Amino acid sequence: MELNKILHMNVGDGETSYANNSGLQKVIMSKTWSVLDDTLKSMFTENGFLKCMKMADLGCSSGPNTLFLISHIMDTIQDLCKHNNNLNSLPQLEVLLNDLPNNDFNNLFKLLSEFCQNNGKEKLELFVYGVPGSFYDRLFPSNSLHFAYTSCSLHWLSKIPEGVGKNNKENIHVAVTSPPEVLDAYVNQFKMDFSRFLRLRAEEITFGGRMVLVSIGRSSKDPRPFSKDEYAPITILSQTLSDMVAQGLVKEEDLYSFNMPVYTPYPQEIEAIISGDGSFNLDKMEVFHVPCDAQYDDYDDMVFDKFKSGKIVADCVRAFTEPMLASHFGGSINIDGVYDIYAKKLAQHLSKERLSSSLSDTVCCGFVFDSSKSLVKVDKFIWLEEPRKDKLLAEADDGGRNVKKRAKVDKLNCGFNNTDAAIFTRLRTLYCHTIVADDLNEERESILDLAKKFSNEKMKAHG
Ligand SMILES: C[S@@+](CC[C@H](N)C(=O)[O-])C[C@H]1O[C@@H](n2cnc3c(N)ncnc32)[C@H](O)[C@@H]1O
Repeated sequence: MELNKILHMNVGDGETSYANNSGLQKVIMSKTWSVLDDTLKSMFTENGFLKCMKMADLGCSSGPNTLFLISHIMDTIQDLCKHNNNLNSLPQLEVLLNDLPNNDFNNLFKLLSEFCQNNGKEKLELFVYGVPGSFYDRLFPSNSLHFAYTSCSLHWLSKIPEGVGKNNKENIHVAVTSPPEVLDAYVNQFKMDFSRFLRLRAEEITFGGRMVLVSIGRSSKDPRPFSKDEYAPITILSQTLSDMVAQGLVKEEDLYSFNMPVYTPYPQEIEAIISGDGSFNLDKMEVFHVPCDAQYDDYDDMVFDKFKSGKIVADCVRAFTEPMLASHFGGSINIDGVYDIYAKKLAQHLSKERLSSSLSDTVCCGFVFDSSKSLVKVDKFIWLEEPRKDKLLAEADDGGRNVKKRAKVDKLNCGFNNTDAAIFTRLRTLYCHTIVADDLNEERESILDLAKKFSNEKMKAHG
C-alpha cells in the first residue's frame, strides 16, 4: 500500500495520541532555539525586515509542538524588531503547516484556535494555513517561502526501500544483523529522498531565504549499531515482536515482511548530500544528544524509575508506530499487549544502561543545521554560455554540479558581487524565462542591465 496513505501519528488528544506523547520531540525542538534565532537574525540583517514573513513547518504533525515553534518564532522576531527600533512596523507572519494528508489536522486546528486566543494583540499578526501533502513533492509556489523549518520528520523516508522486503527478517529497520543489501537500500533511499527534498525546497524558497532542519540521527558512521544502538527503542520493538512470534502470537511471515520507512543519518552523510546537490549552502551543523525518556527540560532533576521511563518511551514510540503496526498486522495482533510487553522490555534496557554507564548512552542523537539558498541556482541562470535549451534543462536536473564549475569562471568575468541578495532575488524570478529563451545572448544582456539597475537602486537606498 502507498505509504502516504497509511503514515500518520496517533490521532486525537487521548491517552495514546501523538498530541499527548510528544514531549521528547518538544525537548529536541527546544535544543534548536539558538540556531533558529541566529538564522532569523542573519536573514533579517541581510535582507531587511519583511512586511510579511512566509514560513513553513514541514511534518508539523497533530500536536502542540508546532505551536511551540510558532510562539518561539513570534517572540524572536519581536525581539529582533525591538532591538532594531522597528516595533512600530512588526512583520506579519504567515505559517504554512504541512504534513501528510492523513495527519489529524482537525486536532491541530483545534489547538490552534486556543493558541490564537491566548496569543495577545501586542504580538505580530499571525495567519496560519494547513498544507496536506508530502514534502517529497512540490508544496508551495516557486520563490514564495522565506523560511522553512522541520523537526523530527526528515528521518521518515518516502517509501520502504526497494529490495528490503523479507530480506531484513525479524529486523524492522537497519539493525546489526541486517544484510548489506538491506543496508545499502536504506542508505540509497535516504540519499534520493533528501536530495529531492533539497531540490524541491530550492524551487520554493526565495533567494536569501533559509531553512533550519532538525533531524534524528546517529553519531556512528556505520548505520548498523555495532557498539552503541542509538535507535534502541526500535530495536527493542522488533525484539518484542520476535518474542511474540516465538509464542505463536504473531505470524513469522508478517514480521518478516514488516519494515519501517525510517533512516537515521550521520552528519557527514548530510553534508555530502547537501554539497553534492548544490541547491543550498550549509552554514552550520550542530549535533546534540537527548535521552530517549526525556519529556521535560528538567530531566536531569528527575529521580530515575525504570518502569516510569519504560512507559514514557513506549507511549512515545506507540504514538508514531501504532498506525503502521495496525495497518500491517491487522486484527491478528493485540496492540495493547504489544506495547505492554514493550514497555517492560524498555524498563529493563533503560535500567541496565543507567547502571552500566552514563546517561548519555540512552540517546536519541539529533542534529540541527541551518542552510541558506546557494548561489549556484543564481549562477546557473545568469551566466549561460550554451544557447541550447535541452542541455540547460539536463544540467538543471543534475543538481547543478556542472553549472557550478562553469559559473565560478564566469562570475569572475562578470564582476558581480555575488552576495548581493537584493539583486539576485529579483534575478531569480527570470530563471524560467531564461532557460526557455532562444536568444540567450540577448537575455544575458537584459539580465546584466537589470542587475545594474538594481545595484544602483540599492546603493541609493543605502545612501
Ligand atoms: C515525529 S513527527 C514530528 C512532528 C513535529 N515536527 C514535532 O516535532 O512534534 C513526524 C511527522 O512527519 C510527518 N511526515 C513524515 N513523512 C512526511 C512527508 N513525506 N511529508 C510530510 N510530512 C511527513 C509525519 O506524518 C509526522 O507527523
